[in-house]
Amino acid sequence: MDDMTRFDMDDAARAILAKNDRGGYTVPTDRLYPFQWNWDSAFVAMGFATYDVDRAYRELERLAEGQWDDGMIPHIVFHAPSDTYFPGPDVWGTKHRIPTSGITQPPVFGMALRCVHEAATEAGLPDARERSRVLFQAALRHHRWWLSARDPDGTGLVAILHPWESGSDNSPAWDVAFARVPTDTRTAIRRRDLGHVDSAMRPHDIDYQRFIHLVDLYRECGWDPAVQWARTPFKVAEIQMTSILARSTADLLVLAEGLGTTDERSELRGMLDRLVAGLARRWRPRLNRFVSLDLISGEDIEAPTQAGFMPLLAVTLDDAQREAVAAEIARWCDNAVGALPSTPSFSPVFEPKRYWRGPIWAVINWLAADGLRSNGLPQLATSLDRAIVRAIERTGFFEYFDPVTGEGAGGDAFSWTAAAYLVLRRRAGNGASDKGS
Ligand code: DGY
Repeated sequence: MDDMTRFDMDDAARAILAKNDRGGYTVPTDRLYPFQWNWDSAFVAMGFATYDVDRAYRELERLAEGQWDDGMIPHIVFHAPSDTYFPGPDVWGTKHRIPTSGITQPPVFGMALRCVHEAATEAGLPDARERSRVLFQAALRHHRWWLSARDPDGTGLVAILHPWESGSDNSPAWDVAFARVPTDTRTAIRRRDLGHVDSAMRPHDIDYQRFIHLVDLYRECGWDPAVQWARTPFKVAEIQMTSILARSTADLLVLAEGLGTTDERSELRGMLDRLVAGLARRWRPRLNRFVSLDLISGEDIEAPTQAGFMPLLAVTLDDAQREAVAAEIARWCDNAVGALPSTPSFSPVFEPKRYWRGPIWAVINWLAADGLRSNGLPQLATSLDRAIVRAIERTGFFEYFDPVTGEGAGGDAFSWTAAAYLVLRRRAGNGASDKGS
């Protein structure tokens, strides 16, 4: 792809972010996801930071409007009504001053804040320091919530209480743990997603029954974290979530040099040490990756998913681990796109088009590449960046990509795919062309 076409693609990515803008926040895509989603917005803020830092701040500020008094930042903020999505605010029944869901999502917020702060400082944005300071405090309160509400025993791993919290809704990682969740619901299920996307790409109806069973249960718990912790049938100490939290904590620690107090710096250092130690214990040499822990059964979750490599974001691998991980990731990336899939094709449950059971996601490869770079594997990192850039340039800004055919799938004109293009193309360099792929 020549430079001129690249500029067109940059324009197309910016046009998607403009089209999905609903007033200072960006919906993931029109109709399928018509509100502000937590980790989508954090990635989007980093995309905006490549050309409009004021707008990048707005994305995070609008997300922080949804933060609860206890520090939790919800996975959806329902800023304005829409009837194209289920479950809406009436099902969640939360009590925040603006309607939100009652669960959370991966805290990419801290990573995004560091990125936006550095871009704003470089651009000389006059109010950068004050805006970053306010968001830094929001992030710190959110991290405190994570450690107290989701790791009350101080294990160094934070737990998810709903698959939607992971962002990887129907990942094979949950199959065993999720099968224990009853399928009865008090809420009538009215799936709207199937009106926008082929049902062969989305979770099954029985998954939705369990998703909504958990929402009903937590609503009955009054959204009290301690009551939920005691009553939930689904509790997974999750390595992707913990890795993102740890990486964001490390980024907040860097920001704390200029924006925080001495006490806040030592608090963040303590959090980071605890999370990194928790993650390090989850390495399984037999599998060449890390594993999550089912807190209800006490068993390792060995299903192969992208989460197994996310600890690279925070943990420093030794030489043997580095070699094993590099070979394992290369094996998983032997597909039409050349990128890390959510489930590898050698897994018996691999489905190339069904949501988190095989497809390739741009933001996952973005995180994986970050982890590889932190662990002295820059070439493999760049090959992931380039594979994603090529996939987008060939097929468009889709929600995700089929690893067998390379086709785009799920929703179209997706905000975080546009943001990923803007970020990854800059660091992928010229080798991202179709030549040699
Ligand atoms: C959905 O509704 O598909 C979402 O992933 C939940 O956040």
